[in-house]
Amino acid sequence: MSQVQLGDIRMAVELKGDAGMPLVLLHGFPLDHDMWRHQIDALSARVQVIAPDLRGFGQSDVGSGPVTMERMADDIGALLDGLGVSEPVVLAGFSMGGYVAFQFCKRFPDRVRGLILCDTRAVADSPEAAAGRAQTAAKVLEHGAGVTAEAMLPKMFGPGTAAANPELVAQTRAMMLACPPAGIAAALHAMAARSDARALLPTLRVPCLVLVGEHDPISSAAEMREIAEAIHGADYHVVPEAGHLAPMEKPAEVNAAIERFIAGLPAVG
Ligand code: MLT
Repeated sequence: MSQVQLGDIRMAVELKGDAGMPLVLLHGFPLDHDMWRHQIDALSARVQVIAPDLRGFGQSDVGSGPVTMERMADDIGALLDGLGVSEPVVLAGFSMGGYVAFQFCKRFPDRVRGLILCDTRAVADSPEAAAGRAQTAAKVLEHGAGVTAEAMLPKMFGPGTAAANPELVAQTRAMMLACPPAGIAAALHAMAARSDARALLPTLRVPCLVLVGEHDPISSAAEMREIAEAIHGADYHVVPEAGHLAPMEKPAEVNAAIERFIAGLPAVG
């Protein structure tokens, strides 16, 4: 892992691959960059992978003051500056990482040459959902990361995965338990306050791939189809037998979809 100082935080980032276009992988909640392990290892043969721990997760500091999706998007802009990456990137956001990707597209449209939206949502939280997140944040600060690990784990995988692949479930639980409570709580408040991204979708002018696990209970295939239909020319791909965490659950299928997408991108300039 490399560490890059960005204003008030040190951001941890895995950099792998030294040729081809930059591919930035934004992880979900409550996880870290390692959820993209299979993509980092396979795709770095043809692109430069940049996989950060978002503010407050993994080995990245949470910093001071409220966290927002906008602030996390600004972190990514500053990270690219810090790494000397000035060419437009392919940006992939999984779930919460997708919320950050929407804000990045709003703030830095010229820095994106392709967008991959993976198991994410464009709608904002309902008031009830936002209130629930605030309660969960308070519980996490009192009782630790186990609160979110036990709440989220059952929603992560397709119906057959826990029995077929208990190691994956154990690995995911460990990643969730390793998230710092302060970062989890800050991200819960940030997600609760996030803006609705639906108006952004028809304004996007970059190639876009929308990927979703067939049985995703958080960002359903039907909801992601609506996202794809709202984006001009977007590809929509359902990952069979996967739940929410499709990149870890069905890596070969997800990698193949991303590789096809990247191979089809027009050359820059
Ligand atoms: C995620 O996987 O990042 C979360 O499910 C996002 C959310 O809770 O909205």
